[in-house]
Amino acid sequence: MYSEYKSMAYCLPQNPLLQSRPVQYTDAMNTTVGCSSAAIPYPSLYGAQFVNLTAVPVINYTVPSTQESLSYPNNITGLNFCNVSISYTHPGQNDLINVRIWLPSNDWNGRFMGVGGGGYSTGPTSDSPLANGLSLGYSVATTDGGHELVSPTAATWALNSPGNVNTYLLQDFASVALKDMAVIGKAATESFYQKAPAYSYWNGCSTGGRQGLMMAQRYPDEYDGILAGAPAINWASFIVAEYWPQLIMNLMKSYPSACELNAITAAAVAACDALDGVADGIISRPDLCYFEPGSLTGQSFDCEGVLSTFSNAGTTLAQAAWTGARSTNNSFLWYGLSYGANLTTGLAVTTCTNGTCTGRPFSISSDWISLFVQKNASFDPTTLTRSTYNDVFHASKQQFTSIIDTADPDLSSFRDAGGKVITWHGLSDNVIFPEGTADYFKRVKAMDPDVESYYRHFRAPGVEHCRSGLGPYPKTAFESLVQWVEKGIAPEVLAGESLPLNGSVIQRNLCMYPQDLFYTGGDPNVASSFRCLSSKAGTTAPGSA
Ligand SMILES: *[C@@H]1O[C@H](CO)[C@@H](O)[C@H](O)[C@H]1NC(C)=O
Ligand SMILES: *[C@@H]1O[C@H](CO)[C@@H](O)[C@H](O)[C@H]1NC(C)=O
Ligand SMILES: *[C@@H]1O[C@H](CO)[C@@H](O)[C@H](O)[C@H]1NC(C)=O
Ligand SMILES: *[C@@H]1O[C@H](CO)[C@@H](O)[C@H](O)[C@H]1NC(C)=O
Ligand SMILES: *[C@@H]1O[C@H](CO)[C@@H](O)[C@H](O)[C@H]1NC(C)=O
Ligand SMILES: *[C@@H]1O[C@H](CO)[C@@H](O)[C@H](O)[C@H]1NC(C)=O
Ligand SMILES: *[C@@H]1O[C@H](CO)[C@@H](O)[C@H](O)[C@H]1NC(C)=O
Ligand SMILES: *[C@@H]1O[C@H](CO)[C@@H](O)[C@H](O)[C@H]1NC(C)=O
Ligand SMILES: *[C@@H]1O[C@H](CO)[C@@H](O)[C@H](O)[C@H]1NC(C)=O
Repeated sequence: MYSEYKSMAYCLPQNPLLQSRPVQYTDAMNTTVGCSSAAIPYPSLYGAQFVNLTAVPVINYTVPSTQESLSYPNNITGLNFCNVSISYTHPGQNDLINVRIWLPSNDWNGRFMGVGGGGYSTGPTSDSPLANGLSLGYSVATTDGGHELVSPTAATWALNSPGNVNTYLLQDFASVALKDMAVIGKAATESFYQKAPAYSYWNGCSTGGRQGLMMAQRYPDEYDGILAGAPAINWASFIVAEYWPQLIMNLMKSYPSACELNAITAAAVAACDALDGVADGIISRPDLCYFEPGSLTGQSFDCEGVLSTFSNAGTTLAQAAWTGARSTNNSFLWYGLSYGANLTTGLAVTTCTNGTCTGRPFSISSDWISLFVQKNASFDPTTLTRSTYNDVFHASKQQFTSIIDTADPDLSSFRDAGGKVITWHGLSDNVIFPEGTADYFKRVKAMDPDVESYYRHFRAPGVEHCRSGLGPYPKTAFESLVQWVEKGIAPEVLAGESLPLNGSVIQRNLCMYPQDLFYTGGDPNVASSFRCLSSKAGTTAPGSA
């Protein structure tokens, strides 16, 4: 895939900046001229006080593949760049933020890429996303947002003291450090090449997706193009909603086994799979899919060779996970997961020892509830009742929406600045509810019916959180964004390609929301066997019964 990204980059128009790059930088790696703290002064950034800056040439660097990731399957080798590290503080706020910028020594493509993080990490936890951008010729930057990049828990930074959230660090994570990173990264790029980047892009998924939309909403002039996958927007609501399946288990005092939940998911997928005309294990027509798990109760299933019976607790839990969080009077709090989402790797995880099972909450959610909402590192979320869960949900929205929700539908400033944004969301996402992203798109469109002229949303059936799953993944979405920004070619679809999990690679063109994939006949692994059509009421898929 890396080589495909690379060839795409070569197809981009020749950038005049390449010719005007100062000759001395061609030799930078030999002479270290250019890549030194003397050549890269502190940027100008209102509100920041710089602490230190280092710039060191790195030669022939290799970044190993991240095997589990569809995005970076290959080792990236032979990287030559100027490794710039800049630390700064916001005086009076007791923070220390570290920005990393990698500047290609050869063949800079004249563009800047800000790279997003994941979970509570403000930036990527591996070098792969930076190396990927660098290998395409981008100058790339990332920030740690003032707290550890790799941390299994937010407990290391969330609280200043029991009862007191570190609001400055939360703001850094949510928005402030992202704007800083754009300014610092672009300034260092300009110092090194003595040319400002011609275009600036954001590339992120999950928290990185949220960050991209934060840039569009709050700092509309920083990026020309924003790719935001599976965005963790609506944060104040959806993070608490992620705990809902665990709450239901705690209230039932019953923790269904993984094999029971997986069998329920398999039954739901089996019921809906072929509604799109093709039995491939992928639900491509979520609009047609309705599955009532209660009917399974009492039926038998095979649990790793042991004949078992679907329990009321199991089917109740699955139904709750699909319905989504509800208030004490059963009014809507948030969306649920899609039928295709894996319940046992995300939100309904249980651990069983000797036949006794307990719940294992998704730590991003339980951390949020304990640390940020309750402000109590020892808070035990299993003590929540329906009523106190409702209170937590409400408090989270009241206290944190303005800081981190990232769901402001007014993108008019970004539109007027000429920006373009692509969001996409896997419909088998097991931790972030795809309907939340669709809802955001609808709210932007409600404010501006012409939204598609600068913001398009795509759905990826069968794709899990940011990658993985049976479904075709939009692996060239970033290139589509660049084409839109620089050539005005707006993407009608995103080309998708699956992993060879089922023995063969499936290619499908992912549809722009609210369209869905309709099978029109032919080889179902070939993109041209499907069309994108509106699935509004009354229409059914050609080829389906
Ligand atoms: C910059 O200063 C900070 C704070 O003193 C320190 O933690 C960091 O290691 C320094 N970085 C470099 C590259 O010297
Ligand atoms: C770059 O490193 C690789 C090993 O990672 C080595 O095989 C190759 O010879 C090196 N190239 C140069 C020009 O040093
Ligand atoms: C990446 O490099 C490692 C170690 O050199 C090697 O074992 C592995 O096969 C390489 N992976 C790929 C996809 O080339
Ligand atoms: C870049 O510089 C930072 C700060 O000195 C260092 O921690 C990091 O390991 C360097 N990265 C590479 C790839 O050399
Ligand atoms: C969920 O993921 C686990 C771990 O990869 C896997 O064993 C299980 O079969 C998956 N469940 C479904 C319904 O696909
Ligand atoms: C792919 O795998 C799923 C289950 O994992 C199965 O239901 C489906 O029929 C398979 N599709 C094809 C084309 O083999
Ligand atoms: C249900 O509760 C919500 C707040 O949790 C409230 O806004 C709504 O009016 C209530 N609905 C009914 C029917 O009582
Ligand atoms: C599980 O059962 C085995 C055999 O009965 C016992 O030795 C072990 O201590 C039990 N483990 C736990 C965690 O209860
Ligand atoms: C913090 O949480 C623990 C465990 O749930 C609880 O016992 C304690 O009362 C809480 N502290 C405060 C101040 O609420």
